Amino acid sequence: MTEFVIVGRGGREHALAEILGQAAAVFSFAGSDAIRHVAPPLDEGMTVALDRELGDAALSALLSRPGSIIVFGPEQPMAVGWVDQIRIAEPDRLVLGPSQFAAQLETSKWWAKEFMVRNGVPTGAAERIKSVDDFERFTLQFEPPYVIKADGLAAGKGVAIFDQVGPARAFVDGIVSGDLFGRPQPALIEEFLAGPELSVFLLLDGDSALQMGMARDYKRAFDDDQGPNTGGMGSFTPVPDISADDQRVIDQRILRPILDGLRREQLFYRGFLYVGLIRTERGFRVLEFNVRMGDPETQALLPTLGMRAAVWFEHAACGELNQLADDMDIEAVAPNLYRFVSAQAAVCVVVAAESYPQASLQGERLSADVVPPACRPAGGYIFHAGTRCCDGDWYADGGRILNVVATADRLDLARQQCYILAQEVVDLKLRMRRDIAAF
Ligand code: GLY
Repeated sequence: MTEFVIVGRGGREHALAEILGQAAAVFSFAGSDAIRHVAPPLDEGMTVALDRELGDAALSALLSRPGSIIVFGPEQPMAVGWVDQIRIAEPDRLVLGPSQFAAQLETSKWWAKEFMVRNGVPTGAAERIKSVDDFERFTLQFEPPYVIKADGLAAGKGVAIFDQVGPARAFVDGIVSGDLFGRPQPALIEEFLAGPELSVFLLLDGDSALQMGMARDYKRAFDDDQGPNTGGMGSFTPVPDISADDQRVIDQRILRPILDGLRREQLFYRGFLYVGLIRTERGFRVLEFNVRMGDPETQALLPTLGMRAAVWFEHAACGELNQLADDMDIEAVAPNLYRFVSAQAAVCVVVAAESYPQASLQGERLSADVVPPACRPAGGYIFHAGTRCCDGDWYADGGRILNVVATADRLDLARQQCYILAQEVVDLKLRMRRDIAAF
């Protein structure tokens, strides 16, 4: 039987463990209590930091299931080189996740921007800023609002948009001086782009790519996109405002140049690539890449894939995605580019602490309805994003606590089911947005 080791501890990784576990044996590494419930841990008794290189003991624990496929959830382990460590220790080990070098598509905004420019991938204009003097010079090239980004990973806080030069300059100063994100680093000033956003999820095998689906997420804390940015308050798939013609444009103008660029630059890329798009008046533009699946988009997308996910992931890890070309569900859209179009829709609603994102909730006992496993009747799931288990009871342990998901053959039905299920688990100290997938 195929075996997967899931690395990571959030709602996305719980979804990976549960859905892959429908068709394969699953183990976990640095997982949460809920993930360990379905995927026995390989790191028992160890404390593993996802954003540090692996020590010898942790590396041998991660590799302790020979023949298993290691699947990376979050970006931090790839950013610090776990994939490279695995390849040095066991060159033939099957891994879904890019090397530290290729992970720069996410870990350096400027590196990603240069990759896009070199390879004709449409994106907003940008300049790199190494000092406040650079900022003064480049501001003249851009109209307000000013989009400023930290070059490196910044725990979701590295992007800000300003109407006025003064606050933009202060943000740049905080980035380049190191005051804001712990170490001095360059910043980017970018052209402001307006329009609806969507994410495309690719699975790559080092040569070919399979578009597994598209999704949209909700970043603001409150209904009608009010309030502060969060890690994501909900998501849905598919994205109804993307027509077949739009998809063809995305295939030809966006995905094709990305794949050609990876090949031209000999960036061996095996794993997930999240392509963040915006539809502007002048066409689709790439806003960002992530070298992982989205959170909470994965929680909606994976249940629509079901048992296929394990089969595809194994093919990708073995460099054999082209063998899926005969699969009835998969369409070959261009050389080395395949697409799956699901007949299912899904909605994910994030149940968060009442005070999130300002503060998290610790120790609040959750209703018995949340006890894993995640699968519920009628295509529902409850994935755990921030919980812990003590003596069989489950407690809140974070900002975003649960991800409630429902699948159906229509988005409106999935939405209806999702809110029925979410209502059962939300209580006084928890809240959710009420407008996810409302059109
Ligand atoms: N949902 C956005 C992200 O995963 O980055």
